[in-house]
Amino acid sequence: MSKNFYITTPIYYVNDVPHIGHAYTTLACDVLARFKRLDGFNVKFLTGTDEHGQKVDKAAAAAGMSPQAFTDKVSQNFRELCSVMNFSNDDFIRTTEPRHYKAVENLWNELVKRDEIYLDKYAGWYAVRDEAFYGEDELQDVDGKKIAPSGAECEWVEEESYFFRLSKWQDRLLKYYDENPDCIMPSSRRNEVISFVKSGLRDLSVSRTTFNWGVPVPGADKHIMYVWLDALTNYITALGYPNMDGEMKDLWPTAIHMVGKDILRFHAVYWPAFLMAADLPPPARVFAHGWWTIEGQKMSKSLGNVIAPQYLVDTYGLDQTRYFMLREVPFGNDGDFSHAQMIARVNSELSNNLGNLLQRTLSFIQKNAGATVPHPAQLQANDQLLMTQIDMAIRTVRDHLDKQEFHKAIETIVGLSNSANSYIDSEAPWTLKKNNEIDRMNTVLFILCEAIRALGLLLLPFIPDSAHKMLDAIAVPENQRNFAAYGRAGECKPGTPLPPPAPIFPRFEEKAA
Ligand code: MSP
Repeated sequence: MSKNFYITTPIYYVNDVPHIGHAYTTLACDVLARFKRLDGFNVKFLTGTDEHGQKVDKAAAAAGMSPQAFTDKVSQNFRELCSVMNFSNDDFIRTTEPRHYKAVENLWNELVKRDEIYLDKYAGWYAVRDEAFYGEDELQDVDGKKIAPSGAECEWVEEESYFFRLSKWQDRLLKYYDENPDCIMPSSRRNEVISFVKSGLRDLSVSRTTFNWGVPVPGADKHIMYVWLDALTNYITALGYPNMDGEMKDLWPTAIHMVGKDILRFHAVYWPAFLMAADLPPPARVFAHGWWTIEGQKMSKSLGNVIAPQYLVDTYGLDQTRYFMLREVPFGNDGDFSHAQMIARVNSELSNNLGNLLQRTLSFIQKNAGATVPHPAQLQANDQLLMTQIDMAIRTVRDHLDKQEFHKAIETIVGLSNSANSYIDSEAPWTLKKNNEIDRMNTVLFILCEAIRALGLLLLPFIPDSAHKMLDAIAVPENQRNFAAYGRAGECKPGTPLPPPAPIFPRFEEKAA
């Protein structure tokens, strides 16, 4: 079995400041990357910025800056988002970098060499907001304007253009979807893509001549490459393409592209077609997640309801924000962000459930069991039951994450915390203490330490800082904070001194207005 794992976010347009939609996609990738690293995989986690195209060109002009100066500035905001959200990306790519020009030019030449690209004239509709071409049949007339399904306004474009022979790849694409049932997820999205491809594909315009902010077409300088051909290539640029050894060989076959549902067509139709046409394998999986609305409304600048990740982190805490985003909505569905829901989740699951378990166990050990990991005696049926649930939890979480079911993975972890809370209630160490059943009391406390260790390890990918604090609280050594040490292999060592407990998951109290 391959122990490589390559995960990518979309590269973000630099016309905007980062908001929670951007943070969401990258967060999902971060959790997968962290989980796989803890599971012993060689991981590469890539994010970055998409800096060419008409949309960015216009945004730069509106800011009164040159496109290069503008992209240098705005790209930095996305880099900062990574530290604000504690993302563990291994690379940050910008499409204005020389390594990327080299890769895109190479891919272009490869397509030309194979006669996949030809020169013609484009006359049709284009939406700058989506950087997408649309057929007349896809558009709606609204107040004399042509509106794309995404809501973006289209303009008529007529210019000489290079075309990619997309129509030729229709059958090969359908075969690829058929032979790789998991290559587009969730399955409802896969079905959408298949019916789009079955409805017939037109050749795709892949160059523009009416502005010049892009990668010049080799040998035809008045053309610049279509921004999506340019942007999609970032995924292989970062692996060293056109060098096919090294990371291209090891990591490319495992590639998972995480995207919002808005850009699925580019990733699940155009991108695999470009790759196959250049004789490269298509990605292993494209996962399309849903969109966030804010208190029931679409997030938009004009409504003034755009939420910056920094604001959430400042208000609720970093790990609270990370937890909520992946916990609240089944991944793949649309979700609504509400402050009330955020507070309810954080209080009920992090503070009450997990926080209580920690507080009750660790304070009790501190006061009544010598402030060290207790020595267990013979285990009883109830102890075995909780230990079995601990052993199973990692497998369940792993299975869920392999299907990008973050909410179910978290449910499993919360379920384990619930069981540990029920266990402490039913075994009542305080009563054992009162009755002087010290061996039994120590056994119960040891099992609880093991539950806390399992929970801490499982939460490391989701809420890294807090999970490390949980592991600090039961003195788990640094080199045992991985999944090889989960279960018996890394069991808590009786007699290890434990630090005085400090609260890790404070309750969020709403300040009076
Ligand atoms: N530059 C292209 C992607 C090129 S990838 C080769 C692009 N960029 S974008 O800045 O518009 O970012 C799009 C991504 O941000 C979406 O696909 C989605 O992942 C995320 N989101 C933007 N708004 C969102 C919400 N309101 N909710 C959830 N995610 C959203 O498209």
